[in-house]
Amino acid sequence: MKQIKNSYLELLAELGIGGAHPGGIKLTEEILKSENINSTCHVLDAGCGTGQTAAYLSQTFQANVTALDFNSTMVAKAKHRMKINNLPVEIIEGSIEDIPLPNHHFDFIISESVISFVNKPKAISEIYRILKNGGRFIAVEPTLNERLDVTQEQEIMQFYGLDSLLMEKDWAELLKQIGFKNIQIQHHTTIESEPDFHYSNEIDPVLYDVMKKHLEIISKYQETFSYRVYTCTK
Ligand SMILES: C[S@@+](CC[C@H](N)C(=O)[O-])C[C@H]1O[C@@H](n2cnc3c(N)ncnc32)[C@H](O)[C@@H]1O
Repeated sequence: MKQIKNSYLELLAELGIGGAHPGGIKLTEEILKSENINSTCHVLDAGCGTGQTAAYLSQTFQANVTALDFNSTMVAKAKHRMKINNLPVEIIEGSIEDIPLPNHHFDFIISESVISFVNKPKAISEIYRILKNGGRFIAVEPTLNERLDVTQEQEIMQFYGLDSLLMEKDWAELLKQIGFKNIQIQHHTTIESEPDFHYSNEIDPVLYDVMKKHLEIISKYQETFSYRVYTCTK
């Protein structure tokens, strides 16, 4: 059996789940309504998964969209989505911790449920580096509503492969330390989106147990572990 590095992320990749962030594409559409994105903008979807948001940004605003993900299965599925929809979105395989793109390049960057899984200061510093001055950054991130006991926090961190669990004040502080301004935090009620799956030909049976555990954790911690939308400006 192949070695699975982060089995939750591998589950998302093999099932090809689009809108794999709380609120899904409907939340994304809601958030983007308040942003000033047009066809002259350079936009990045950092940790794009199967590329649902990147495709939406290209279709809706005719923006110049780039999308980045480090999982090769996700990258292949995102490329396929752009090809069949004939969308001029550039998909890059690479890490948000070391983004292979130039400084001050983007007007707008969105990252939905990605930074929690990586070295957070490194990823946010990279996003800051490649944004233009005055550029906007939006992150949708899992957020603790209150601290849990150590065993409970360990259970969540180990399952999702996280190095820490942040409350909204911690996320805001991190963004501020890296230099972001005008930090705003939105707490949306959960929005239901249409499921969007792009299954791999073979799905490792181990991943069904991973799905079961994920559903257990969501249900167990639904009152304390939710998400926020963080918006800010460079
Ligand atoms: C929960 S999924 C969200 C995917 C997408 N943003 C969405 O909402 O559908 C997390 C994504 O982050 C990607 N990811 C994890 N670590 C990454 C890294 N270091 N660099 C780039 N992408 C990463 C995973 O491959 C996965 O596609």
